[in-house]
Amino acid sequence: MSQTRSETSHDSFKSSKFFSFPEKLSKIFVVFMRLGLLFCLVASVLLALHSASLIRRRWPSFPERLSPSFPERLSRNASDQKSVPTNISHLLFGLAGTVHTWRDRSRYSELWWHPNATRGFVWLDEKPDTKVSRPGFWVPYRVSGDWTWFTRSQSAVRISRIVLESFKIGLPNVRWFVMGDDDTVFFTENLVSALASYDHNQMYYIGGNSESVEQNARHAYDMAFGGGGFAISYPLAAQLVKVFDGCLDRYYNFYGSDERVCACVNEIGVPLTRLRGFHQFDIRGDPYGILAAHPQAPLLSLHHLDYLEPIFPNQTQIESVKSLMDSYRVDPTRILQQSFCYNHRRKWSVSIAWGYTIQIYTSFLTASALQRPLLTFKTWRTGEDGPFTFDTRPVSSDPCEQPVTYFLDKVQEVGKSGTVTTYRRYVANQGKNCDTADHARAMAVQSIRVSSMKMDPKHWKKVGNLKLFI
Ligand SMILES: *[C@@H]1O[C@H](CO)[C@@H](O)[C@H](O)[C@H]1NC(C)=O
Ligand SMILES: *[C@@H]1O[C@H](CO)[C@@H](O)[C@H](O)[C@H]1NC(C)=O
Ligand SMILES: *[C@@H]1O[C@H](CO)[C@@H](O)[C@H](O)[C@H]1NC(C)=O
Ligand SMILES: *[C@@H]1O[C@H](CO)[C@@H](O)[C@H](O)[C@H]1NC(C)=O
Repeated sequence: MSQTRSETSHDSFKSSKFFSFPEKLSKIFVVFMRLGLLFCLVASVLLALHSASLIRRRWPSFPERLSPSFPERLSRNASDQKSVPTNISHLLFGLAGTVHTWRDRSRYSELWWHPNATRGFVWLDEKPDTKVSRPGFWVPYRVSGDWTWFTRSQSAVRISRIVLESFKIGLPNVRWFVMGDDDTVFFTENLVSALASYDHNQMYYIGGNSESVEQNARHAYDMAFGGGGFAISYPLAAQLVKVFDGCLDRYYNFYGSDERVCACVNEIGVPLTRLRGFHQFDIRGDPYGILAAHPQAPLLSLHHLDYLEPIFPNQTQIESVKSLMDSYRVDPTRILQQSFCYNHRRKWSVSIAWGYTIQIYTSFLTASALQRPLLTFKTWRTGEDGPFTFDTRPVSSDPCEQPVTYFLDKVQEVGKSGTVTTYRRYVANQGKNCDTADHARAMAVQSIRVSSMKMDPKHWKKVGNLKLFI
């Protein structure tokens, strides 16, 4: 048994055919991996420029109150090393924080910010008390420049201007300005691979919108929600700073900073390129359903974690993110990626969200059902069961139809390119139990080992260029 690539702690399980599935995981992954709907986005800058000029014509009073001219060399440097693939050093992060919230929320940043590799700042509303600093307070801070001279100044104006202030620092070799909140958890390896597939010398605005339809309807569908994080390419930032302050004034009555940035980007004529791995997480309750059936796209960010139940049961949210990071570090590309398999003899369906959770259903469920997130959460604002911007599937009230669930217990690297992850059964001590023999057999499986090959980030290009995930 020790030679095999998967084991459970229960004997009867070992003899089943099912047992062989993880050996074939990489094949299964290809075969069963869900075929997400792919649409094509043709983001032509020519078109963008054209529409910008249309706006100007229709709106002759288009004000440009501030047109700071930056030295030419600033914009030229970005294209210096076109042939060098984008790496973490080409990203400049700008996190929106306040002295008040940062002390607590920096615990999240510490889990993903690499002190000697990640570049950027958290932008605070005032200078923090130096006594606040503690070991691990890694993210350098800057105090936002004065924004109160805006006729109708609001803190959202300050947050919006982080793009502009980050640009004005003039750091060399920045290809992407990445904006997020102080409680956004970024998965930087995946973010780098995602951004590397776009031409940083073109104008791009890349992010994701809200999970709750009510939020998109209230703010905007084609907007990158700030908490999920978004990226602005250098040339777009360079255009944006020329019109930014005047533009912010024009949209003074908008609600959030992200809405203002979006409005200004739209004036330049650049549309949102939507990536499904950004998670604003405008949801309430338990995010399990979404994480266990993640879209077929690299995980890029998580947000609003303090408003949600812990990702792992029986752990705090900080511990949960640490646990997720353990498997993420071993195989960033595969984290949360879902694969299915079936045990024909037992009539079981199994769904694996790599590095996080496994579900065993004691019946056959189609791939189409398994890829729909279980509705374990509510909408952000009204706390309803939907609608969301993706399909969901209700959690059955019949305990026999509910899956037996397992959560990540251990991650091991095997050689250079393999991994073994172990998942332990978790029983929530609430509600009714199912007492069929079938269910009992599944419940007897205490833990599951999955072995797999590390996933190549180029995989995303095989299933369709990243740009197609909108
Ligand atoms: C990233 O690319 C730059 C070139 O722009 C290079 O000098 C640097 O060593 C690279 N950094 C990493 C971490 O690969
Ligand atoms: C970062 O670099 C400094 C010196 O350049 C070093 O003292 C420090 O230990 C490094 N930190 C980490 C976490 O690698
Ligand atoms: C631009 O690049 C040159 C060298 O290629 C460097 O000396 C200069 O500091 C850079 N300027 C900026 C603003 O990045
Ligand atoms: C919860 O965690 C505690 C301590 O880590 C452990 O003793 C207990 O068994 C866990 N409960 C479940 C249901 O996993």
